Amino acid sequence: MPKWLDDAVFYEIYPQSFYDANGDGIGDFEGVIQKLDYINDLGCNALWLNPCFDSPFKDAGYDVRDYKKTAPRYGTNEDLRRLFTEAHKRNMHVLLDLVAGHTSEEHPWFLESRKERPNEYWNRYIWTDNWFTWGADGVRFISGEAPRNASYIINFFKCQPALNYGFLNPKEPWQQPADHPDALATREALKDIMRFWLDAGADGFRVDMADSLVKLDDDRKTGTSAVWKDIRAMLDARYPEAALVSEWSNPPLALNAGFHMDFLLDHAGSGYRSLVRDYRLDADMRPFDDNSFFKKDGRGDIRRFLDQYLPWYERASRIGHISLITGNHDTGRISGNLSNRELALAYALFFTLPGVPFLYYGDEIGMRYLYIPTKEGGYTRTGSRTPMQWNKSKNLGFSTAEPDKLYLPVDPGADAPTVEEQHNDPHSLLNTVKALLNLRRAEPDLQSKPNLEILYAEKQRLPFVYRRGNLVLAVNPSAVDAHAALPLTGTPVYAIGSCSLTQGSCRMDAQSFGVWRL
Ligand code: NOJ
Repeated sequence: MPKWLDDAVFYEIYPQSFYDANGDGIGDFEGVIQKLDYINDLGCNALWLNPCFDSPFKDAGYDVRDYKKTAPRYGTNEDLRRLFTEAHKRNMHVLLDLVAGHTSEEHPWFLESRKERPNEYWNRYIWTDNWFTWGADGVRFISGEAPRNASYIINFFKCQPALNYGFLNPKEPWQQPADHPDALATREALKDIMRFWLDAGADGFRVDMADSLVKLDDDRKTGTSAVWKDIRAMLDARYPEAALVSEWSNPPLALNAGFHMDFLLDHAGSGYRSLVRDYRLDADMRPFDDNSFFKKDGRGDIRRFLDQYLPWYERASRIGHISLITGNHDTGRISGNLSNRELALAYALFFTLPGVPFLYYGDEIGMRYLYIPTKEGGYTRTGSRTPMQWNKSKNLGFSTAEPDKLYLPVDPGADAPTVEEQHNDPHSLLNTVKALLNLRRAEPDLQSKPNLEILYAEKQRLPFVYRRGNLVLAVNPSAVDAHAALPLTGTPVYAIGSCSLTQGSCRMDAQSFGVWRL
């Protein structure tokens, strides 16, 4: 386990939209470098950069055309190396995004693979044995697109053919087992890409669709897990400080497969969703009917989160970390359904539970979701990918380009939140995030380690009270006061709103959060 994960807090950067240093309307590596001090000062000591490699950008870079070359719009490989160096100078770490399961249809491997005649890359992807063979077991096929007399499997969009890591139990002659030399060659190619960037100074990877590699896998993901165990063995032997975080959302499976961290994501029925995203969306993507725990109307129930989280935590926390996210490039921004106070309380929980939290750029100021047309395959995700709002100058300080040249429009609202404004307001969301992350930095008991104890978490009752080492923490997201009988007395360490832990009772005013030392 990389030591630096003990106190890591990540900041996710969608590079297109963070800071445009060269004035061409799109974010770049130099822009990230110039903002490293801001991120560090905020309290984040690690970055995850969304894919920044050569790509036709039909899925915002999740369609990689060349894994070893950065997209010129962000800068050169040399610029990315400089970003690693500058981050390391500040004791920060950088994860790249590894799209392991598929490439762009323009990747040279695919251009070879689609040819009529067999060649070295013919089985780098998964092809059937005939153009008229398609449709099986939940995998998606594309036919009629290539000279080759066969159909191929995709992982996501049509432009993303699935790489061949084999099948757990091949049923058809064209399905190779996971230990077939061709499937092993794909795995070796992936390792080669990883070594390339680790040798260049990257500190690890966020792995896209990490559970998708071996096809027709079983519920335990036996085939895909074996691939990751093999890759983890390479890291342990050669890059013991490199970290892997998975897009999997099943920590027991993901961490047993070798990941150091796994995200909890917002799919239907997920406990994480019940905290901040338990709403329905109308046709315009506007949230309604919100039952999230952190809504102040108080219909939330912490058990809906804990009933899923705690069994996972018990099974997974000795081998790795669970990662809670404020949001990401695929989700709506929760500022759409939560007020700044509700956001502050939600972040307070995310940043004080065990594991390694991830903050999505702009969530620290409550940046809004914008209702704008799709860009680069973003569709409804596009509104969460707009330029970072630094100040009230041109393009909210993101870029000096003319507004029609921007990658995406900036928030047009006169009240668009900005870093500069919130920096000067001691009660702003930005300063609350800083205070919470400072607290986490100062208190080893509040960092990644698995020292969680639940003190009070009753169905449909508030507050929620938990303990980490020598600290007791409580949150009451509702608009009414709450208290729990607890035989503890603590000295206040930090609070949002007013609350106390004395004389056998934890008393929490409406919408408050407290931390006490025993
Ligand atoms: C998950 C990524 O987060 C998403 O943005 C992308 O579109 C798909 N995987 C396909 O790579």
